[in-house]
Amino acid sequence: MPEPYEQMLADTYDAQYAVLRDPSGDREFYATLAAETGGPVLEIGCGTGRVLLPIARAGHTAVGVDPSAAMLEVFRAKGLPENLTLVCGRAQDLALEQRDFGLATMPFRAFMHLERTEDQLETLRRIRSHLRPDGWLALDVFDPDLARMAALEESGEQPSFPWHQRTVVRRYAVTRDHAHQLQSVRFDYTDAQTGESLGTETVTMRWTYRYELEHLLVRAGFEPFRWSSGYDERPYIGKGDIVVVAQRA
Ligand SMILES: C[S@@+](CC[C@H](N)C(=O)[O-])C[C@H]1O[C@@H](n2cnc3c(N)ncnc32)[C@H](O)[C@@H]1O
Repeated sequence: MPEPYEQMLADTYDAQYAVLRDPSGDREFYATLAAETGGPVLEIGCGTGRVLLPIARAGHTAVGVDPSAAMLEVFRAKGLPENLTLVCGRAQDLALEQRDFGLATMPFRAFMHLERTEDQLETLRRIRSHLRPDGWLALDVFDPDLARMAALEESGEQPSFPWHQRTVVRRYAVTRDHAHQLQSVRFDYTDAQTGESLGTETVTMRWTYRYELEHLLVRAGFEPFRWSSGYDERPYIGKGDIVVVAQRA
C-alpha cells in the first residue's frame, strides 16, 4: 500500500505550510492545550513535527504517531529531545503501552485521512483507551464550504515557496465523490523558473460536517465541550475549520 504522504510532500511540507498553515495559530492553540492538561501528549498524524516538536521542547512528554516513514524521517532529522518518541503506524491500529495521556491531538486535518466511518470510530475508540480518565482529545478538520464542495472538480495554484535553491509552485487538482464524502487531491510540483516537473502525489480525504463529527465523538465515548471555527477564541460560525476539544465521557 502506498504511504499516504510520500517523499515530495514530506520534503516540501515545512516550507509550504510555514506559509499556508502556521499563520492560522494552530500550533499555539495545541501548545496551550498541552499546558492546560499538563500532558503527556499523544499526537496522531504528527507528520514532520510542525505542532508536536515545540510541545516536546516546552518540556511535555510526547509521543507522535504517523504511517508515513518519509514524514517521520523529516521529523527525526530535526533532532528529537529525550522526552519525545515517534512511532510509525496508522491511527486505526493505535496500540501503545502508554495509556496515561492527558491530551491526544490530531492537528491539521489528520482525521480527514480516515476514509471510512469504521476507521474514524476505531481511531477515536483507540485514542480514548490511551487517555487517562480526565484526558482530552483535540482535533480539527476543514468545514465543508457547500458552494465549493458542490463542484465535482476543482483546480488551482498555491503560493510559491523556496526549496533547495529553487522556487517551487504546487498546483492541485481535486476530484470529489459526494456519495462517500471523499476528495482526492493531486499535487503537481514544478520549478517556477524552469518549468521542470518535480513530482506528483495524491492524497485522499473524507470531509465531515460539524454535527456528524459530534455524533462520531459521542459514539466513541467522548463528550465535546469546545467548538470553534479557528484557533483563537472565536466561536463556531460554520466556516473555516471545525476545531473541537472533547473529554472522555
Ligand atoms: C496534513 S498532515 C498534518 C501533520 C501534522 N499534524 C501537522 O499539523 O503539521 C496529515 C498527516 O496525517 C498522516 N496520516 C495519514 N493517514 C493517517 C492515518 N491513517 N493515521 C495516522 N496518520 C495519518 C499523514 O501521513 C500526515 O503526516
